[in-house]
Amino acid sequence: MTARVPTLGVIGLGLMGGSVCRAARSAGSCDRIVGFDLDVAVPLAAQQSGVIDAACESVAALGAEADLVVLAVPLLAVPAVLAELAPALREGALLTDTGSAKQSVLLAVGESLSPGQAARFVAAHPIAGSEQSGLDAARADLFAGHKVIVTPTAGQQREALQAVCDFWRGLGSEVLEMEAGHHDEVLALTSHLPHLLAYALVDALAGEKDNREIFRYAAGGFRDFTRIASSDPLMWHDIFRSNRPAVLAGLDQFMARLQNLRDAIDGNDGDEVLRVLTRARASREYFLRLLEERENAEPPGVTFISSAGKPLAGSLRVPGDKSVSHRSIMLGSIAEGITEVEGFLEGEDALATLQAFREMGVVIEGPNQGRVRIHGVGLHGLRPPRAPIYVGNSGTSIRLLAGLLAGQKFDVEMSGDESLARRPMRRVTEPLGRMGASLLTAENGCPPVRVQGNHPLHGIEYTLPVASAQVKSALILAGLYADGETRITEPAPTRDHTERMLQAFGWPVERSGSTVTVRGGATLRAQHIEVPADISSAAFFLVAASIQEGSDLLLTGVGVNPTRTGVIDILRLMGASITLQNERLAGGEPVADLRVRHAPLHGIEIPQELVPLAIDEFPVLFVAAACAQGETLLTGAEELRVKESDRIQVMADGLQILGVTAEPRPDGILIRGGPIGAGTVISHGDHRIAMAFAVAGLRARGPVIIENCANVATSFPGFVSLANQAGMHIGMEEGS
Ligand code: S3P
Repeated sequence: MTARVPTLGVIGLGLMGGSVCRAARSAGSCDRIVGFDLDVAVPLAAQQSGVIDAACESVAALGAEADLVVLAVPLLAVPAVLAELAPALREGALLTDTGSAKQSVLLAVGESLSPGQAARFVAAHPIAGSEQSGLDAARADLFAGHKVIVTPTAGQQREALQAVCDFWRGLGSEVLEMEAGHHDEVLALTSHLPHLLAYALVDALAGEKDNREIFRYAAGGFRDFTRIASSDPLMWHDIFRSNRPAVLAGLDQFMARLQNLRDAIDGNDGDEVLRVLTRARASREYFLRLLEERENAEPPGVTFISSAGKPLAGSLRVPGDKSVSHRSIMLGSIAEGITEVEGFLEGEDALATLQAFREMGVVIEGPNQGRVRIHGVGLHGLRPPRAPIYVGNSGTSIRLLAGLLAGQKFDVEMSGDESLARRPMRRVTEPLGRMGASLLTAENGCPPVRVQGNHPLHGIEYTLPVASAQVKSALILAGLYADGETRITEPAPTRDHTERMLQAFGWPVERSGSTVTVRGGATLRAQHIEVPADISSAAFFLVAASIQEGSDLLLTGVGVNPTRTGVIDILRLMGASITLQNERLAGGEPVADLRVRHAPLHGIEIPQELVPLAIDEFPVLFVAAACAQGETLLTGAEELRVKESDRIQVMADGLQILGVTAEPRPDGILIRGGPIGAGTVISHGDHRIAMAFAVAGLRARGPVIIENCANVATSFPGFVSLANQAGMHIGMEEGS
C-alpha cells in the first residue's frame, strides 16, 4: 500500500480535484490536504465543507507546502500553473495531473519545470468522471474500480513513478501504463470524439427554427446519445484544443464514414445501410461483453457439479448442428440472394464465423431464436475486413475460412484463443499452397494464419493424409475459386455437409467412391436451410439415458447423416437401445427422432472404420465404456490428440481421478468398466470433455466436480438447463 503523503496539494477543486481530496481523505492517503482553485471562492467553500484542511492563496503558496501536487485544472491552464509552481515547489515534491490529453501536458512540463522537477512529474489520466461538474459533484468513490492511465517518460525517476502509481491505487483505481502519443490517439477516438459529437448534435438541433418542437418530442434515444453534452464545456474546450491532431484525425475518419452512410441513404443503397447498422450493433454487443469480462477482472470460470440424477425422460431438442451452422453462413454469404437459416446454433463457434463474414461486408440479420438472414454478396463480393479476424475456439472457422479466403483478392489474418493457438494448420495450408495459395502460419504451423490474397488458384488432385472433414471442406471451398478441377480423395468417409449444402445451393459436386470433385466458376443460389439438431450434442443424452436406469428419452429432429452416426453404431454394438423414428429429409440432410432407453452396456473393440464417423463423440463414449461391463478398446484415433484438447490424455486423467481404469495409448485408449467415484476433474477448457464428465456424474458414487466449463457455450449453450430438465442433476458455480 501507499506510503502516506504528509501534505497533499490539489490545484483545481472541481469534480476531479475535489474527488481526489475526498478519496485521499477516505483512504487515509495523506495527513493534510491543501487546495487552490482559479476561482477564489472555491477553496474557501472546500475548506468550510472539510474537503480540504487549508485554502492556499496562490499556486506558489500551495507549491511551498505540498509533498504531492495534483494538477486538476483545465488543460489549457496547465502551462501557466506549472510556470507559477516551478519556482515555489518544495525540494523533492512529487507531481501528477488528471488531464485527458497527455502530450500537451508533458510539453508544458518540459518547458516550465526544471529537469529534476520534471523527473518527478508523473502524467496521469483517470478514466473516471461524470457529466456533472464542480466541487459539489465530487465523490470519494469516483476512482474506485476505474482505470488510471499513466504515461511514463524517459527521464522519469523510478521511485516517483512508483509512488504516484501507488497514490492512484490507494484511491481505489487500477493503474495502467501507456505511451503518451498512443494514449492521446486512443482517447481521441473513444472519449473525445463522442463528446464532440454529442455537443455538436445538441447544438445543431438547438439551432433549428422549430427547436422547441424538436426538443419537446425528443425521445430516450436523444437523451441517451447526448447525456455527455452536459459535461463541463470549459474542460472539453481545452481537451479538443490540446489534443488537436488526434481529435482532427478521428473526426476526419468519422466524417468519411458518415458521408458513406449519407451516400448510401441518398443512393437508396439499403444493403450498405443495413451492413453498417448490423455490423455496428454486433460490434457494440461484442464490446459490451468485453467490458463485462474486464469488470470481472478475472473472467469467472464456470464449475459444474454433477451428481446422481433421475431417470432421463420426456422429449427434448438439442441445439442446431455446429458443422451445418458454420457452412450455412459461409455458403449463404458467397451465394447470390438472401439465404434464410432456421435452427442456427447460437454457440460461440458458429457466431465467430457469422461475425467474420460481417467483418467482410456481408449483411447478416440475427441470429434471433435460431433464425438468420444472410444477404449473399456472390462469389466475389466479399470485402477486406478492417482488422484481423478472431475466431475464438473454433477450428472449423479457421480451417474452412483458410480455404475460402485463399481465393479472394485481399489479405486476411485469423487468430483464436489459447486452445486454437495450439492446433495444427499445416494440414490445410500445405495442400492449399499446392493449389497456388499463399498462407502463412506461426513457426510451429499453428495460428495465427495469414492468407495472402490475389494468388490465382488451380485445381489439384489430393489424397488426404488424415480423415478430416475440415481439410476436405477447406480444399472444396478453395476449389470453388480455382481454375479447373479439384479432386480430393479421403482415406475414410468424413462428414459431407459441405458437399450436400453446395449441391443444395446449385453447385455441382461429383462423388465417386472416396473421391469428391468440384470445378471452379459456377454460381451459388441462396437457399432456405433448416439446421438439424446436432447429433454431437445429442450424444451426451444418448449415453446419459443408456447408463441411467429407468430412462426413456426422445431426442427430436436430430441430424442422422450417415457420416455422423458412428456414435449410434458404437453404442448399439455396446448393447444400447436406440431407435430412429420419423425419419425424413430436411434441407438435404437426413433427420430423425431418436428414442433411447436404458440398457446394460458391455465393452467392445471399436471398429476403426467408425472412428471418423464418431470423431467428436469419443469423450462421452469413454464414459459409456466406464459404465460398461468389461473392456472397451479404441485404436486408430490419434486425431483425438489434436482436438480442442488432447482428448485421449485429458479423458484418461479425469477417468483415473474418478477411479476408473483407463490406459491411454498413442492412438486410442483402453477402458475397463467399473464403479465411478467422486472427484474433481479438469476439462482443460474443452466443451465436450466438460459435458462428458457431467454425464459421468449420473453414475458416480458422489459428486463429480468439473472445472473450467465456460467453453460449453461454444457448442451447446443451455446444456445444463436442458440436462436438468431431462433428469440430470448438474449444479453450476462461478469460479474454477
Ligand atoms: C468438423 C470436422 C471435424 C470435427 C469438428 C467439426 C467440421 O474435425 O471434429 O468438430 O465441421 O468439418 P476434423 O476435420 O479435424 O476431423
